[in-house]
Amino acid sequence: MTRVLGIETSCDETAAAVITRGEDGAPAILSNVVLSQIEEHAAFGGVVPEIAARAHVEALDGVIEAALEEAGVTLDEIDGIAATAGPGLIGGLIVGLTTAKALAAALDKPLLPVNHLEGHALTARLTDGLEFPYLLLLVSGGHTQIVHVQDIGRYERWASTIDDALGEAFDKTAKLLGLPYPGGPSVEKAAAQGNATRFAFPRPLKGEARPDFSFSGLKTAVRRTASELAPLSEQDIADICASFQAAVTETLADRVTRSLERFRTEHSHLKEPALVVAGGVAANAAIRNTLKSLCRQKGFRLVAPPIKLCGDNAAMIAWAGLERLEAGLAEENALAFAPRPRWPLDESSAPLFGAGKRGAKA
Ligand code: KG4
Ligand code: ZN
Repeated sequence: MTRVLGIETSCDETAAAVITRGEDGAPAILSNVVLSQIEEHAAFGGVVPEIAARAHVEALDGVIEAALEEAGVTLDEIDGIAATAGPGLIGGLIVGLTTAKALAAALDKPLLPVNHLEGHALTARLTDGLEFPYLLLLVSGGHTQIVHVQDIGRYERWASTIDDALGEAFDKTAKLLGLPYPGGPSVEKAAAQGNATRFAFPRPLKGEARPDFSFSGLKTAVRRTASELAPLSEQDIADICASFQAAVTETLADRVTRSLERFRTEHSHLKEPALVVAGGVAANAAIRNTLKSLCRQKGFRLVAPPIKLCGDNAAMIAWAGLERLEAGLAEENALAFAPRPRWPLDESSAPLFGAGKRGAKA
């Protein structure tokens, strides 16, 4: 039995988890502790990096202890220590990675520096035992991308946002409508009471051949509408949210279709190709339903991990560490690994202007 302790501190969640693969080969989450800093940041309407780093320092030891206790294991029974080494807010990354290095050095166990995006990318193998290759739609507060997941450590980015991340668009929309932070759940809740056809917001890049995403024009249209209507009634807010969400789902379906078609062409032998959705925005029911019907239409299987494992957590980091350990990918000189605020999964793809401003949510 291999057991890996995972640590995640790249943004506003302090998290630790223990993952194992039993003798039967099935993975198991022995513990998954996530301490959210939402309250610390709420007054600022977004994540404040300095506050986040300090909160990680205060909470991390206790969170690791809780994860070990819940898993019923001691540090001696751990076979490897995985920690998010990037991308993310540098202060938090330093806290998590340095703690992991200290544990690995003291216990003389392998250290596994994990790319946070790889954690999201491999979660579906933990939850659904998915085989390579598959397509991943990652939609969070800091990232919006489509990744061709070929193998452990082999990722090809097919599409990305050219401006705001989707979660960021939800958060900014909420902020300018005066809805509470974090914005995604607030917008979704308000949208449920609204009329999605009242405002014809733009569908950015819809119909274009390039596979990328863009959300800043949508946000600008929301701002213009809100200032024209001010002061806003509760119904106005609900209608704006519903119309915004309708624009998002329609754009998303159009953009994702491009990559589904490409995947189908490149892997024509696969009977039932899979699309995995991950990241905090995957909690949105309208988005999940849109992707479900799109996949049905295109002959894909949609794999949507449980909401707790879609948002940031350490189980996905421990799992990526376990996969790397088993694949013989643990690096000899991992203790010298420096945290990377920017760390694209696909190092060969050119960065797009404005993409990946993780943490700059306010
Ligand atoms: O993956 P995550 O927990 O952290 C990041 O890596 O950013 O994602 C957080 C993002 C936030 O922007 C939040 O507003 C968004 O996910 N989000 C949602 C919903 N729940 C969370 N967006 C839309 N609808 C939701 N229900
Ligand atoms: Zn994330």
